[in-house]
Amino acid sequence: MAISSIMFVCLGNICRSPLAEGVFRHEVESRGFGDRFVIESAGTGGWHVGNGPDMRAINTALDHDIDISQQTCRQLNRADFQAFDLFLCMDDDNIADCKAIAGRDYDDKIMLFAEYGGLGKVEIADPYYGGHDGFEAAYQMIKAASAGVIARIAS
Ligand code: 4NP
Repeated sequence: MAISSIMFVCLGNICRSPLAEGVFRHEVESRGFGDRFVIESAGTGGWHVGNGPDMRAINTALDHDIDISQQTCRQLNRADFQAFDLFLCMDDDNIADCKAIAGRDYDDKIMLFAEYGGLGKVEIADPYYGGHDGFEAAYQMIKAASAGVIARIAS
């Protein structure tokens, strides 16, 4: 089945997954097929629902000419697993939490983002409790993994 909708997943949906949503959208648009995918992000936790992304994520994206300031945090829910084709998770905890929220076997839709994007079985570390370097490191992994995902599903 062709993949046409992608959900990026992290814990809080204010750092890594909003960055992934914005970067992936930018990467597909720059390749000329932005209208081919529905792209969203959500958190497995609900602490920040309704908020914009963390300022450090917004500024890291802006450093690379990507504006994620208008994205709004939302929590992943069970219905998402019917609606979306692919769930790209930042770390192994996100995968376990996705499977718990899904409530039935959607394992074939739930993937580790970096691994699915060809970077190997690595997590995109949570930068929330660190400084700018962690956000830039997350951005670089997200950009590389996005290119791998696009090559895998859109070529
Ligand atoms: P994220 O980072 O999962 O990349 O959005 C976090 C943001 C907030 C929290 C944890 C991780 N928090 O505990 O509030």
